[in-house]
Amino acid sequence: MSQTPLAPLKQIPPQLQTIADYELQAQQHISQPAWHYLQGGAMNEISVQQNQLQFQDIQLIPRHLNDFTHAHTQLNLFGIDYPHPIFLAPIGHQALFHPQAEQATALAAEVMQSNFILSNLTNTHICDLNKENPHKWFQLYWQGDRERALDLIKIAKENNFKAIVLTVDAPHTGIRDRERKIDFRLPIDLPHPHHQAPQLIQTLADHQHSIFQGLMKYAPTWDDIAWLVKQTDLPVILKGILHPADAQKALEYGVSGLIVSNHGGRVLDTTIPPLIALEKIRAVVPTDYPVLLDGGIRRGSDVFKAIALGASAVLIGRPYIYGLATAGALGVAHVIKILKEEFEISMALMGTATIKDINQDFIYRK
Ligand code: GLV
Repeated sequence: MSQTPLAPLKQIPPQLQTIADYELQAQQHISQPAWHYLQGGAMNEISVQQNQLQFQDIQLIPRHLNDFTHAHTQLNLFGIDYPHPIFLAPIGHQALFHPQAEQATALAAEVMQSNFILSNLTNTHICDLNKENPHKWFQLYWQGDRERALDLIKIAKENNFKAIVLTVDAPHTGIRDRERKIDFRLPIDLPHPHHQAPQLIQTLADHQHSIFQGLMKYAPTWDDIAWLVKQTDLPVILKGILHPADAQKALEYGVSGLIVSNHGGRVLDTTIPPLIALEKIRAVVPTDYPVLLDGGIRRGSDVFKAIALGASAVLIGRPYIYGLATAGALGVAHVIKILKEEFEISMALMGTATIKDINQDFIYRK
């Protein structure tokens, strides 16, 4: 029987020191259906597991005695300085995990100077985020409707979002056994101020006999990308690219950056591990082309390894939701603080004073 979830904590107990601690704690604060939705992935969940395991195969080769007088974790993307490379991935429906939802996440991100990518499946209105904060991007799911996409881009621009992230790896919902077994459905009263699609997706997904004539009929194509980059002066970033040929094509189409990702293992199981895809993609795009990575980051040393393999920055997903469910904005801020501190200490121990100093010479693959 499912138990009533505990209320969010008002302060952080000392036993919460790692992302793994937060994962254990968060389960007590999340309803059982929402927990399966959060933790689950596609089919056998091999990719969900492999996303974390991929970091274990990479070993660190530290260098010592380097000068750290001017050390920092700052980076610049599309002309904006970001104080550190740990960004928050777009996750929809955050009211499932805490009543303050994306508003709590955005507040924590701002305090911890983490770039927040707001999902267009947000339960919080764009205007309820601090307009002054320049560390935010807007994510778009787009099924067919160019007008609607344009409206959203306009609102994002007016509200000082600095980039548009188009998620391209989920034109159809993945097969999620866990969700099917419990017949997971989003509560109908969740507000979605910027998307009408949860209902549309549900309706079309309910008619599973019609895949190609259902959701796939509305899926974006490269023609839409060509159109999209012409419509906005904001950088357009594609999220979910794994194939080097798609990375090259994105460049040709004027896309400003990529997020190498398998969607947290939630869409297609047994994809190439994102870290390997990252290496392959790095080999075919210019050195300074922004390529970010998400999937499986649970420690600051994972952030280091991703950057060593060519990531410009990384995104965390489930970890900050553990923080959100556990203690709202305070929990998200603490999760970011943990990873940021672990990353800085990793840099210090590795002998790399800036992000630019981190490269493949500092790692060994078995
Ligand atoms: C939606 O993007 C999901 O992964 O559930």
